[in-house]
Amino acid sequence: MTIETVDYTTKIPNNVNLAEDRQVLRALESWHPGYIDWWRDMGPEGFQEALVYLRTAVSVDPKGWAKFDYVKMPDYRWGILLAPKEEGRKIPFGTHYGDPVWQDVPGECRAMLRRLVVIQGDTEPASVEQQRHLGKTAPSLYDMRNVFQVNVEEGRHLWAMVYILQKYFGRDGREEAAELLQRRSGDADKPRMLGAFNEETPDWLSFHMFTFFTDRDGKMQLESLAQSGFDPLSRTCRFMLTEEAHHMFVGETGVGRTIQRTCEAMREAGVADPGDVDKVRNLGVIDLPTIQKKLNLHYSLSLDLFGSEVSTNAANTFTAGLKGRFQETKIEDDHRLESASYPVLKLVDGAIKRVEEPALTAINMRLRDDYTADCQRGLDRWNKIIERTGVGFKLELPHVGFHREIGEFKDTKVSPDGKIIDEAAWNRDQGRWLPSKDDGDFIGSLMRRVVEPGQFAGWIAPPRVGIDNKPGDFEYVKLAA
Ligand SMILES: [Fe+2]
Ligand SMILES: [Fe+2]
Repeated sequence: MTIETVDYTTKIPNNVNLAEDRQVLRALESWHPGYIDWWRDMGPEGFQEALVYLRTAVSVDPKGWAKFDYVKMPDYRWGILLAPKEEGRKIPFGTHYGDPVWQDVPGECRAMLRRLVVIQGDTEPASVEQQRHLGKTAPSLYDMRNVFQVNVEEGRHLWAMVYILQKYFGRDGREEAAELLQRRSGDADKPRMLGAFNEETPDWLSFHMFTFFTDRDGKMQLESLAQSGFDPLSRTCRFMLTEEAHHMFVGETGVGRTIQRTCEAMREAGVADPGDVDKVRNLGVIDLPTIQKKLNLHYSLSLDLFGSEVSTNAANTFTAGLKGRFQETKIEDDHRLESASYPVLKLVDGAIKRVEEPALTAINMRLRDDYTADCQRGLDRWNKIIERTGVGFKLELPHVGFHREIGEFKDTKVSPDGKIIDEAAWNRDQGRWLPSKDDGDFIGSLMRRVVEPGQFAGWIAPPRVGIDNKPGDFEYVKLAA
């Protein structure tokens, strides 16, 4: 495909009047071939020619923003869509609280804002890179379609951030847009910017945990950016959240179906003790203690994405009106946080205590608490699945100090139940808390591709309903001959 043969005004679905925005259109045109190269190199491996039943965002109308059809992924129409402008919208927090929102980048915030956009943008292609091998071991065509859907939408989220960079940040923005295509997840020289996005996604349970926990961090970040006083960013993020909801659905139901299959298999075989790992694994399903370990890993990696509990950076972006709190407009306070405090978990004289800190510097902590509450609601639903089958087991979120690399607990060993322990105890017990190589090998041994429509691998239950209300035996992916 060459630039000349592509009509970009129709190629890129958009509601930003791209046809008349010559400069941005030109910038996107010169970025597009590099993006396609990146997608072919780093997108789903071995499935570029497959026909995938995907939804494409074609407008922002809540009743009909998506269109479902078969498409080859490299031909996916990555669009630029911003949620509708809210007339009279005011900056909802910070020093400029109550002023009209900005349609352009305020000069003094330029660097700070660019960094926020680049960090968000960097996570989007990173997850596509992490998930590129999964198609080969998909437990069904339904699941295969789901990972591809998540992938193309993360690709679109990259476009969304690149549009902001190219439209509002001139030459710096174009350079950043180019670099977003150069970094690679897990690369020694040019890694992605955030830790969790350089980890491997070796199997489907990891993928489902990732979309549950790490995409949910993405949701929290997008929710806070959707509050931004810089209106184009707010509108972009608001629309991205519509798609993000499906990613978390994929994660929550993916883990839920895995749990369900395990419990059913145990019941059918009369295995009552969830801790009898060998017996459960012999049934060809993933034992619940291993699911708990995977959960511990992905939750703790995702907590690191919130940054330090106490952060002047977070205070600055809040004060500047660039990044707010979760559901800022629903919070009842002064939205400037001049004198408020917020309880922060800290290490005090060798013990974990809640300490009141200025709410302004505790913005990250607050967002992380909101995140934890959101995760817990998902766990409650998973535990209901276990309960209904009569198996005696309960999944729990580990303590926020467990297995951390960033923030207050990074130099302390904390057990999942929140006790400070020494190095020796950590080394002795971490195999009970985090997935071991053996656990990974076992899960890996179950990862075999199933491609008959309506069939599912033995370790995961079928979904209750199909995508776009399709019947159970619908052919979600037509593999290339
Ligand atoms: Fe995303
Ligand atoms: Fe996502």
